Amino acid sequence: MNVTSTQPARILVGVSGGIAAYKAVALVRRLVEAGCEVRVVMTEAATRFVTPLSFQAVSGHPVRTTLLDAEAESGMDHIALARWSDAVVVAPASADLMARLANGLADDLLTTLCLATSAPVHLAPTMNRQMWAHPATQANRARLVEHGVTLLGPAAGAQACGETGEGRMLEPEAIVAALLVGARQDLAGRHVVVTAGGTREPIDPVRFIANRSSGRMGFALAAEAVRRGAAVTLIAGPSALPTPTGVERVDVETARQMQAAVESIASMDIFVGAAAVADYRVAAPADRKLKKSGETLSLELVPNPDIIREVASRTDRPFVIGFAAETDHLREHAAAKREAKGMDLICANEVGADKGFDRPDNALLLLWGDGERELPQADKRHLAGEIFDTYHQITQD
Ligand code: CTP
Repeated sequence: MNVTSTQPARILVGVSGGIAAYKAVALVRRLVEAGCEVRVVMTEAATRFVTPLSFQAVSGHPVRTTLLDAEAESGMDHIALARWSDAVVVAPASADLMARLANGLADDLLTTLCLATSAPVHLAPTMNRQMWAHPATQANRARLVEHGVTLLGPAAGAQACGETGEGRMLEPEAIVAALLVGARQDLAGRHVVVTAGGTREPIDPVRFIANRSSGRMGFALAAEAVRRGAAVTLIAGPSALPTPTGVERVDVETARQMQAAVESIASMDIFVGAAAVADYRVAAPADRKLKKSGETLSLELVPNPDIIREVASRTDRPFVIGFAAETDHLREHAAAKREAKGMDLICANEVGADKGFDRPDNALLLLWGDGERELPQADKRHLAGEIFDTYHQITQD
């Protein structure tokens, strides 16, 4: 078990073509002053307005402009850059960039990164007021929001084209505030504990029983809770996902290690069991690698402790949020599971070959004492926000 320390927020700033690109220089500067690590990616059109050198000077790192730059790709390639980011903000986001993103195009480095990242993506739209009001742009805006993208602005006021109306880029200070402070601090002062990922139950020193959980939902919940001001402990099964900024992460392997890590936390306000905990473990794992004998091999499995049930039966129990992954009879199975384990809120999802596990998005059915809510297919970060909003709705605070 080890505890990973927190790091400064890693923000990827995307700059698309528009006269407001010059304001993005001030944005990068403000982010650096606020203690963030910033990398800048510009579209080809953006480089006509401001030179990459300006952004290099303020960010302290070389600026990337093309996807097919062999030298840059050999340093931090575009997938590594997408994974590196805690948040992506595109400012200014032109009408063209919004249209490309809304349609899932990945025809340059910036749009590719926006597709490849699991970090929240923010856009600060900037364009002439008629372009903003056009039904095509509005349809793209709606589609992007559906995909989990957060729009920052635009603001109304005088525009570079001489007109007045909606379409100005938000001021850099407002963008920084939205990015770093988060929309609401509605979990300030709470301790949120999240379990995430799958567990590994050893068979022998080199083999184990595992499952297909990626940990993405739990990591997204931990990141969202921090954004809302909570102190967050993330107890994670083996996962390659980066630790969200501001989260205390405890790495574990087996269900019993996860149980011990949860048990050691004396006080929590909200417990989220997002881990896919193995229900069984091998009774007596071999201490040497098992050799094949050609005969049938039987493994004796014994039940693992039920972590969420134990938390829900504490005398000073926190608000308990659990998950149910079901292949059939979603509502019935989830409702029964909620009752049986004493959860306050259960988030149920259908799983199958192409659903639920190891994907950046999902659809959920939330069930609690006297209510329910269906959350349509969306990015897991977006779902995390909806889950905490539902928590507030239930507890009415
Ligand atoms: N869970 C847990 N400890 C376990 C098993 C599950 O804390 N040993 C939690 C999960 O994190 C999740 C919820 O319980 O929040 C539902 O897990 P699931 O495995 O779907 O429930 P089971 O009771 O194991 O039901 P099933 O028979 O469907 O496997």
